[in-house]
Amino acid sequence: MSELNCPNRRLTEVNEGKLSLSRRNFFAGLAIAAGSVGLTGIAESAQAATKKYKVCTTKDVKVGSAVLFLVKSANIMVLITQPKAGTFRAFNPACTHEGFQINGVQGNNLVCPVHQAQFDMTTGGVKRGPARKALGQYKLTRTGTTIYINA
Ligand code: FES
Repeated sequence: MSELNCPNRRLTEVNEGKLSLSRRNFFAGLAIAAGSVGLTGIAESAQAATKKYKVCTTKDVKVGSAVLFLVKSANIMVLITQPKAGTFRAFNPACTHEGFQINGVQGNNLVCPVHQAQFDMTTGGVKRGPARKALGQYKLTRTGTTIYINA
């Protein structure tokens, strides 16, 4: 298994304490999301989900690989994959088992370091448990070589 590239310095620092930080960030994100729905309603949450953020360029993610990016303006981490030439996907890197950060690639699968769940790098679908749900996926768009997500 190879570890994911991490071109963002701040994310590298986060990765040094990845297990506890990732889990805390995941649950904090859940709390924020739940609060958002409760306070502002589903319609406003849907509007917030349509904001577009620049993540990287197509050259930052090689074919058959995945790279973690911190989108500072949204304060979220995004896992960009290129399963085949010219096909890019954007995932929430929080494992759907217990929320730890996906940090490796094995063949065409993304691998969680904690209990070794594996997810398809094209669909985010579970290839190996204990996770049961697919990774969350962001809408990805490209303008030229620039990759954006809606989050
Ligand atoms: S947290 Fe990822 S497999 Fe358990």
